[in-house]
Amino acid sequence: ELPKPLPGAFRGEKMFLVFAGTAGSGKSSLVATLSKWMKEEVGLRLSVINLDPGAEVLPYEPNFDIRKFFTIRDIMRRYGLGPNGAFLKAAELLGEYERKIVRDPAFTGFYDYVLIDTPGQLEMFMFRPEGTKFLKRLEMMKPVLLIYIVDGSLAKSPEDLMTSYLLSLILQSKVELQVVTVINKIDLLSDQELDVVRMLIENPEEFAKMVADKVGGIAGDMLLDLAQVAEKYSPSERALAVSAKTGEGMKELYDLIHEVYCSCGDLT
Ligand code: GTP
Repeated sequence: ELPKPLPGAFRGEKMFLVFAGTAGSGKSSLVATLSKWMKEEVGLRLSVINLDPGAEVLPYEPNFDIRKFFTIRDIMRRYGLGPNGAFLKAAELLGEYERKIVRDPAFTGFYDYVLIDTPGQLEMFMFRPEGTKFLKRLEMMKPVLLIYIVDGSLAKSPEDLMTSYLLSLILQSKVELQVVTVINKIDLLSDQELDVVRMLIENPEEFAKMVADKVGGIAGDMLLDLAQVAEKYSPSERALAVSAKTGEGMKELYDLIHEVYCSCGDLT
C-alpha cells in the first residue's frame, strides 16, 4: 500500500511540473493523460492541481482547484470586466492567495510529482509579476520543471509553429526555469506534417532556414537568429512530440522529466 500523504510536511514531493502553453494547446488533456500514465505504468504518487480559474470542465480530478477561491466568471461579474481583464485581476488574486494556496496539502503532501495545469492566457502565470513570484515560491519548495506545450496542429503553418515554439524561449528567460518543450496533437498530423515537427525538434536551425526562405526579408533573418538562440538555450534533446489524445509519447515524456529530475537531484 502506498504511504498516506503527510499534510503540511514539505517532504516527499520530488518535483513540480508546471504545464504552460497557448490557449487550446492541450495542457489539461496532457495533464490528464500523463498523470494517468505515470500512476498506472510507474506507480508514482501524484498530486494534480488546477490553477486555471477560467476552466469549465477538467478531464482529470484535481487534488487542488483554484476555482474554490475564484473563477473568471465570478471576477467578470463582480468587477464588471471582460475575460482578459478578469485574467489580469485573477493574477492579482493569485498574489493575494499565494500563501494559502501553496500551503494546501496538494502542494505540500508526500508526492513524487505535483502536476500543475495553468491557463492558456499566459499573462496570469508567465507575464505578470504575481505569476512569476508564484513560480519562484514553488522553486523555493522543490525543483520546478516547466513543460511548455506547442499545438502541433500548427504544423500546417510552419511559421506559426515556429512562433509558438520560440515563445518558450521568452518564458524561459522570464521565469528562469528548466523547460521541456512538447509538441502535442501529433495524432492530427499527416506524415508530411510529422516530418515538419520532427525537423523542428531535431534541427531547429534547418527548420528556421526553411521558414525564413518562405517568410523572407528581415523577419526571415530574425527567425534564423532566434533559432540559434533556441538551440543554445533550449537544446533539441529537451523537445519531443506527443499526443494527449492517444497517449503516444507518454513514456518518452516521462523519461525526459525523470532525467531532468535526476540532474536536478545531483545539483541539490
Ligand atoms: P486552455 O486551458 O483553454 O488554454 O486549453 P488547454 O491548453 O488546457 O487545452 P485542452 O486540454 O482543453 O484541449 C483543447 C482542445 O484540444 C480540446 O478539444 C482537446 O480535446 C483537444 N486536444 C488536446 N490534446 C489533443 C491531442 O493530443 N490530440 C487531439 N486530436 N486533440 C487534442
